[in-house]
Amino acid sequence: MRRIAHISDLHFGRTDPAVVEGLVDELNRAPPDLIIASGDFTMRARRREYAEARAFLARLSAPWVAVPGNHDIAHFKLFSRFFHPFRRYRNFIHAETEPTFLDDEIGVICLNTVRTWAPETDWSQGKITRSQIARTEARLAALPGQVFRIVVGHHPFMPPPWDAEARLVGRADEALDAFRRHGVGLTLAGHLHRHYARFVEAPETGAEPDSEAVDRGTARAHGTRLLAVQAGSATSTRLRGNEPNAYNRIRIEDGRAIVTVRVWTGTGWADAEEAAPPPAAS
Ligand SMILES: [Fe+2]
Ligand SMILES: [Fe+2]
Repeated sequence: MRRIAHISDLHFGRTDPAVVEGLVDELNRAPPDLIIASGDFTMRARRREYAEARAFLARLSAPWVAVPGNHDIAHFKLFSRFFHPFRRYRNFIHAETEPTFLDDEIGVICLNTVRTWAPETDWSQGKITRSQIARTEARLAALPGQVFRIVVGHHPFMPPPWDAEARLVGRADEALDAFRRHGVGLTLAGHLHRHYARFVEAPETGAEPDSEAVDRGTARAHGTRLLAVQAGSATSTRLRGNEPNAYNRIRIEDGRAIVTVRVWTGTGWADAEEAAPPPAAS
């Protein structure tokens, strides 16, 4: 059994200090086997924001892996954006933007989905290149057969249940096909600052994403199916859809991933189902 904490979109530069302190306490109280951070450590890739992010990571007891998000490269400084976009990320967070983690139960492969340029006005959208897909396939193929396979990126692989038209990471379909061919059980991402989890169905079935898909609470993935999980923003005050700060606790056991959302209640962290108000009587 492995326990993972999936945090995302911390956005140092616009965080609630109480939430940051609460998250450090929460993660260190019973440290998971691995913390996975799916990007957007900063607001504007400023030095002091990166310094805060690094100080946060240094306080964590558990090992961690991370990918950059679109906010982690300079937006307006075009020279640095084009010529050394990830220099600060490499200096402050980690030298590798696509790390891997492997033990005898889980294999985690990280993808840098951030684009430094796009032929459109919105450069915040992410994309996976064909060479990244090929490299990821090779990495997945090299993993021992028994490990539970997890792929991490910043931009979403699947749309929210409430917005089928939501912009996904570029080449999401090709990437998901490749992940499924290689037995990936779980994808983790952020960017939207909203939690949801839904299964990716095989295209040949023509089926809609499974009705077991959930947008809150607990999701259970079975080994033969790929579950796409999104995290809310762990510490940022840039919240969307009235969603509180949140992160995902994931247990990998018997070839399944069991996801529990933890939300900030104002004074501490609690399971989303306990923290959510009871549904209105119909
Ligand atoms: Fe973000
Ligand atoms: Fe983002």
